[in-house]
Amino acid sequence: MSTELAISDGEFRQFRELMRKISGIDLGDSKKHLGSGRLSKRVRERGMRSFGDYYRLITSGLDRDEYHRMVDLLTTHETYFFREPKHFEYLADTILPAIRAQSAGVRPIRLWSAASSSGEEAYGLAMVMMNHLGDDYPWEILATDISREVLAKARQGVYGKERIDGVPREYLRRYFLHGIGSRAGTLRVVPEIRARVQFAEMNLNESLASAGEFDVVFLRNVLIYFDPPTKSEIVARVVGQIRRKGWLFIGHSESLNGITTAVRPERPTIYRKD
Ligand SMILES: C[S@@+](CC[C@H](N)C(=O)[O-])C[C@H]1O[C@@H](n2cnc3c(N)ncnc32)[C@H](O)[C@@H]1O
Repeated sequence: MSTELAISDGEFRQFRELMRKISGIDLGDSKKHLGSGRLSKRVRERGMRSFGDYYRLITSGLDRDEYHRMVDLLTTHETYFFREPKHFEYLADTILPAIRAQSAGVRPIRLWSAASSSGEEAYGLAMVMMNHLGDDYPWEILATDISREVLAKARQGVYGKERIDGVPREYLRRYFLHGIGSRAGTLRVVPEIRARVQFAEMNLNESLASAGEFDVVFLRNVLIYFDPPTKSEIVARVVGQIRRKGWLFIGHSESLNGITTAVRPERPTIYRKD
């Protein structure tokens, strides 16, 4: 029987500092139990006897796969379809009519799900776009995350039945294929929607210039993990990728108070660049 390895305060501090440097995430003392539980299992799987050995492997730079594995383990990926549904309604009812009037199809409308986790947010956005603009209109979605594990899942676009509670009935009918036989109980996002969403690995704590410019950015439920200085830097970089008059959405438990003046609030958690 394998028992969980205990992590010392010193060892936890090392991983906390490493994650802060890599991703900007501040694990905080409250995450000690959660983080060490996930890591402990991995340390054992790798046949190691201590967190120190695992830390040395990660920081040696010799095993990039393991480095990504650690990032997967120490990030929180909770998400679901049409989380905070008012954001999707605002996109459909207020933003799309405004952008259509401005750009009239001359250049693609670009949306960014900037901490996409397993893809539910990005596919939800694509469903709204498809429903309101159709397949002939030029629009595209970039979905990025630091975690390779969730990106691999997102690219599959396959979700268990229990994961689709928030999806409007009409969207369920039009934009999902219902699995049969060995795939019963799962649904797959239809190819027309999957084709509009490009998934890529991107660390918000690094340069974001390669992402290009966007009309709408969803940066939701990720700012909570950063300390205030990192949060300011990340918001500044993300806002730098938003077109003039573009929109930024953050999560309902997040705030940009004292963080930036480069966007102004249109509604709580919905901001617009001048
Ligand atoms: C809680 S999920 C939020 C998913 C979705 N935006 C939502 O609101 O449902 C947070 C995601 O942020 C990602 N993340 C954390 N730090 C990141 C960073 N520095 N760069 C990119 N993604 C990051 C995590 O891997 C995780 O998938």
